[in-house]
Parts: sequence; structure tokens; C-alpha cells
Amino acid sequence: MSLTQRGPPCSATTSRPDTSPTSSRGAASVLPRRGRGPGRLRAQMWPSSCSALAARRRGAGLSTVVLAATAAPESFDVVPQNGNGAKKLSRPPLPLLTGEQIVQRMRTSVPEDAHSKYLAYFSSELGGITQEPAFMQVPIDDHMVHRGHAAFDTCILADGFLYQLDAHIERLMISAEKAGIKPFWTPSVIANIVHDTAAASGVKNGFLRFWMSAGKGGFGLGSSECIRPAFYCIATKPPVQRLYGPEDEEMGIPTWRAKTTPVGIKSPCMATIKTNNYLPNALSADDAEADLHATHGIFVDEEGFVSEGGTFNVGFITKDNELVVPEFDNCLAGVTIQRIMELVPQSDSLSDLTVCQRKITAVEAKGCKEMFAASSTSLAIPITTWDRTTFFGGEMGYYTQRIRRMLYEDMRPNPPHALHTEVNYGIVTHMQ
Ligand SMILES: Cc1ncc(COP(=O)(O)O)c(C=O)c1O
Repeated sequence: MSLTQRGPPCSATTSRPDTSPTSSRGAASVLPRRGRGPGRLRAQMWPSSCSALAARRRGAGLSTVVLAATAAPESFDVVPQNGNGAKKLSRPPLPLLTGEQIVQRMRTSVPEDAHSKYLAYFSSELGGITQEPAFMQVPIDDHMVHRGHAAFDTCILADGFLYQLDAHIERLMISAEKAGIKPFWTPSVIANIVHDTAAASGVKNGFLRFWMSAGKGGFGLGSSECIRPAFYCIATKPPVQRLYGPEDEEMGIPTWRAKTTPVGIKSPCMATIKTNNYLPNALSADDAEADLHATHGIFVDEEGFVSEGGTFNVGFITKDNELVVPEFDNCLAGVTIQRIMELVPQSDSLSDLTVCQRKITAVEAKGCKEMFAASSTSLAIPITTWDRTTFFGGEMGYYTQRIRRMLYEDMRPNPPHALHTEVNYGIVTHMQ
């Protein structure tokens, strides 16, 4: 898996013909065309064992031809040969890249906005931090890539302080243990890695996303072949808040519209661990985004009880002024919603609200006054409709607004408290 492998390879090179997958112009000039016959094709084909050597000897001109072979679909013809009915490839081989070419291609294939989005990256495989997006890579034989065998978490960086870092690391450790990933680093070592990655980002506001993987070592199913667990951490700029309509623009706060997702819910065991198996979550997002009436999907279990959204927990305000949070037996124990449950009883502006965590059916939830989503990356966001139900006249709910403000104030370090970890930016720049 690579954070940078988007877009065509060598998209930034100017001296080469355009060999991008969407263009056949460059490819057509250097590649054999269909219908020219196997003899002609064979004459242009290099045995793959020689191609790297040949590429090195002939330099850029040759690599142009080889590059084109990777991009032109018509060059993948399979032509029956030898009279025995077996199919045999008749085309130039794919390029066998040298180390230098790889480094160059990694650099030139980075999307334009990567430098402003991906700020610093730690990899236990590299043993340090890089600020170059081109090298923010994960090995293909890491079981996180081909088996999803990893746990992850995300922590917010607000005004130069990491908010609730310990809680996120604690959940990561629990998830990793449940995922059978042997603890290789102590929470304190992980906190130091996340801290230094944040410092290397050079920004005061962003996200720290981190993964603990079973590690690399092969393509088997079980992780016994993995050499050691791996840890990766990336500091990213927070995405620009997505507003969904004119009302959002007016308020400056997004309001979400939910639908019960048709995507099958995870088993309670899988839903309560934060692992890299997010396919159902991702599909629920795709499904909602394709729906004119919704922005986000909500999982409801077989018995009709509310679970959560793809990357958020939900809370409801009942007509009796009760904040109901679905139990964590069929969903992730969110750090944010737990903090909300802790803060509400201490908040003067929410003194008439009682907090209750229990199972709640979708039918009961839809009879509530307000509904909101909660997560580290979006704080508390009003959900104004769910299927055919409208909450609070389609506007941001009275209590949701107060909960959002309460959380925002808790996150901002003025003054800092025990849930804030100050980032010492000088540790990386050596400027104290
Ligand atoms: C499935 C799921 N549920 C809930 C949450 C909210 O958790 P937190 O508040 O810790 O960000 C997340 C966060 O990513 C999530 O992925």
C-alpha cells in the first residue's frame, strides 16, 4: 500500500512521451499494434531476464519503450503460438526498474497536494521520520496490507497539543492485543513516536493517525511468519470541513443526513476492535454518498438496535432530556462519546440533561428530539434526518450545539489540562 501511488507513473516527467493509461498517443508510437503478426512482435520483444540489463545499457530511450508497455492496454495481447493451442505473450516485458529509477518515480508520482497534506511519517521499518511523501510507504508483504491484520487509531492535534493521546494509545493497545499482535512497544514509546511525528509536521493543528501491524514477512494467512510487528504514524493536515448545503455554510458547521445502511453489520467481536478491516464501513460511506437524501450510513443490528456510523458513534436526546448513548457491545468504544458522557454532568449549560448508556432500538431513536455523531475527527455533528425522520426541525439541535461547544472548549488547550500533551516542536528542529 502506498500513500503516494495515485495518478499515472512518471506523470511529472516532461521529456518522455505521454504514456499515461488514459492516453494511447505515446504508446502507439513505440508499441506494436494489433494485427501486425507474431513474427513482427517477437522481433521487438526482449526476454524479460535481459530487460533490466538492457534498460541500464540503453538508458532513457529504451526505458521509454518499456514504460509504454506498462501503460498501453492493447499491448497485452495474448497470441496463440507454437501450433499447440497454448497461449503465449507477444509483447515487450514490463520494466524491471533500477533502484534509482524507483526513487525517481516515487518522487515524480506524488500528487501535487501531497506535500501540504502529508506532513511527517514515522515507520518502524525505516526506523525514523520522513517529511517526503514519496517515501511514506508500507511494504507489500506487511500483513496490514494484504490481510488487514493491524489495529489503528487517530488523535487530534489542536493548537500544538495532542488531545486525549493516552486514551487513543490505550485503545490501540487493547485492539492490537485482541487482534493477536504482540505488544512490541510500550504505550510510552508509542506516545513518544506520535509526539515526535507531530513535532516533525511543524503544524499546530492536524491529525495523527497510527497503525500497529502484525508486520511484514510473507503472504501467508497466519502472522507467525511475520518478522516483528510494525508501527506507522502519519501527521496530516485536517481536511477542509465538508459542508453539505447552504444552511451549513450559514452556520459554518456541517449537518449530516443519515440513512440505515444496507451494508451488513460487523459481528460484535469485530465491531468492538479498531482494526484495518473497514470494508463494511467504507461501503456504507459509498452507499450514503451515492444517495441524494443522505450523507452518512448508520449500522443497525439484526435485533433492531442502533450500533454506530462508519467512523463515528451516535448519541440521542430523548423528549425527557436524556442523552442516550448506545452500549459498546456492538460498536466501537469511541473516545469522543465517552468524553461527552464524562463532561455533560459537569457542564452548567447542560445541567438539565441526564446521561444514560443503554441499548436503544432504531425505532425508539427515531422518536428522539436530537441525534448527533461523535468522533475525534469531527467532534459532535448534528444529524438532522435519519431515513424519513427529521430531528429538531432539520436544524442543529439545542443540546447538540452545547455539546459541540463543550467538547471544543475541552479540546482547545486554554488552559491545558491532563488530557493535553504539549508538542515540543524544538525536539526535531533543535531550536528550543
Ligand atoms: C467505527 C467507529 N466508531 C466510532 C468512532 C469514534 O471514535 P473516536 O471518538 O475515538 O474517534 C470511530 C473513529 O474513527 C470509528 O471508526
